[in-house]
Amino acid sequence: MQSFLLLAALPFALCTPLQPRQDSSTSSAAQPTPTVPYASDDPNDSFWNQFNQPGAVPQPERGNTGGDILAQDNVPLDIENPDTLAPPSTDEGDIPNSKWPFSLSHNRLQDGGWARQQNVNSMPIATALAGVDMRLKAGAYRELHWHTASEWSYVLAGSCRITAVDQLGRNYIADIYQGDLWYFPPGIPHSIQGLNDTADGCEFLLVFDNGEFSEDDTFLLTDWLAHVPKEVLAKNFQLDISLFDHIPGEELYIFPGVVPPPIDQDAVEDPNGQVPEPFSYAFSQIQPTAYQGGSVKIADSRTFNISTTIIAAEVTVNPGAMRELHWHPTEPEWTYFLEGNARLTSFAASATARTFNYQAGDIAYVPPAYGHYIENIGDTTVKYLEIFNAAIYQDISLTQWISLTPPEMVQAHLQLPLDVIQSFNKSKATVVY
Ligand SMILES: *[C@@H]1O[C@H](CO)[C@@H](O)[C@H](O)[C@H]1NC(C)=O
Ligand SMILES: *[C@@H]1O[C@H](CO)[C@@H](O)[C@H](O)[C@H]1NC(C)=O
Ligand SMILES: *[C@@H]1O[C@H](CO)[C@@H](O)[C@H](O)[C@H]1NC(C)=O
Ligand SMILES: *[C@@H]1O[C@H](CO)[C@@H](O)[C@H](O)[C@H]1NC(C)=O
Repeated sequence: MQSFLLLAALPFALCTPLQPRQDSSTSSAAQPTPTVPYASDDPNDSFWNQFNQPGAVPQPERGNTGGDILAQDNVPLDIENPDTLAPPSTDEGDIPNSKWPFSLSHNRLQDGGWARQQNVNSMPIATALAGVDMRLKAGAYRELHWHTASEWSYVLAGSCRITAVDQLGRNYIADIYQGDLWYFPPGIPHSIQGLNDTADGCEFLLVFDNGEFSEDDTFLLTDWLAHVPKEVLAKNFQLDISLFDHIPGEELYIFPGVVPPPIDQDAVEDPNGQVPEPFSYAFSQIQPTAYQGGSVKIADSRTFNISTTIIAAEVTVNPGAMRELHWHPTEPEWTYFLEGNARLTSFAASATARTFNYQAGDIAYVPPAYGHYIENIGDTTVKYLEIFNAAIYQDISLTQWISLTPPEMVQAHLQLPLDVIQSFNKSKATVVY
């Protein structure tokens, strides 16, 4: 085995003496000596385009590797996941599954709407964050409740009204529209109700800062009171016990209701004042920063001050463009795809990398510090949310890192011409084209 490895490496060491670079630099730094073979020149493109041609039969073949399928296969899934069926050969080792489509989540249908969730039971790698896709028809309620995790939300369609009261008895009420956010700190009681203006109710994405969070496991007003002796209820509210004859005997969770009046008629006057930091944020009104290949806008605790444990960036990546190679120093990323077709390769160190494909309605998860990119492999814009268990948005750009490192050192690693290294932009490209 050892001699085979030696023989395999020898041709590279012997037959590729490094030519003096014909670059403008006159650096006298020692030319690097390769100690391992060069990486292959094959570009390893995604086969998304090829698999999506009419009549195409996706096959697990790349170059001379693989072979066609002889037996059963779920072709629609192959078409959606070309980099799983025929992965780039740069993939190696085993990263646990990092893709979950809400379409595979068991749905909880109620009178008034539904909810489907993703947590560690569906995607065990996602230990820090969990998500829910919820629909409320016009007037319907997600009942008054609270939970141990923080709740962050992005309205996907329509509009809804939220209410909350904090520990000092300060209340909050707001109407939230598509592309806007809300955030409730742990334990803060709140409600959500579908409005009837831009659509029949609303659909929204909820994210919780605990991968084990279950939407079926929250503290509900009705569930609680159904589990308190009526004698205690009467004493607590100082009312006759018969007034509690019609409280629900079990939880309501989601239930139908009447569309509420305009917000100024619905708001309850509060002698303690309003919460000092709003629980909602008009993210849809924020102008994104344009980059060469797309755009980014960020809502973290510097702008949406209350959101100190869950924050987000909304990113667009044009066809052919890519969210550049980067990582997040300490933050796990839970990603939700709103539009388009993408691939992402997670690099976990120790020669371990795996590529996944995503489309609208899919969730990705990237553990802290894992190197990754998000490439638009389709012909329409990719739009997605990078969501973090953090207070401040942070990323480290590969290009910026090496552009701010002595070029000879970078050359010794990557054997690029010095002038090329020196031409790297010292600003983050963020979305490259
Ligand atoms: C890309 O895939 C080919 C097979 O088509 C493989 O031989 C090659 O090594 C891969 N390229 C890289 C950079 O790994
Ligand atoms: C919502 O508004 C539409 C159009 O105005 C109306 O027809 C419908 O009855 C309303 N739905 C509810 C639940 O109020
Ligand atoms: C959020 O915090 C910043 C900086 O501390 C402050 O300038 C701003 O007024 C705060 N915004 C709100 C809505 O409280
Ligand atoms: C470097 O990047 C910045 C920020 O993206 C951009 O404004 C600038 O034009 C770039 N400079 C060059 C030389 O490409």
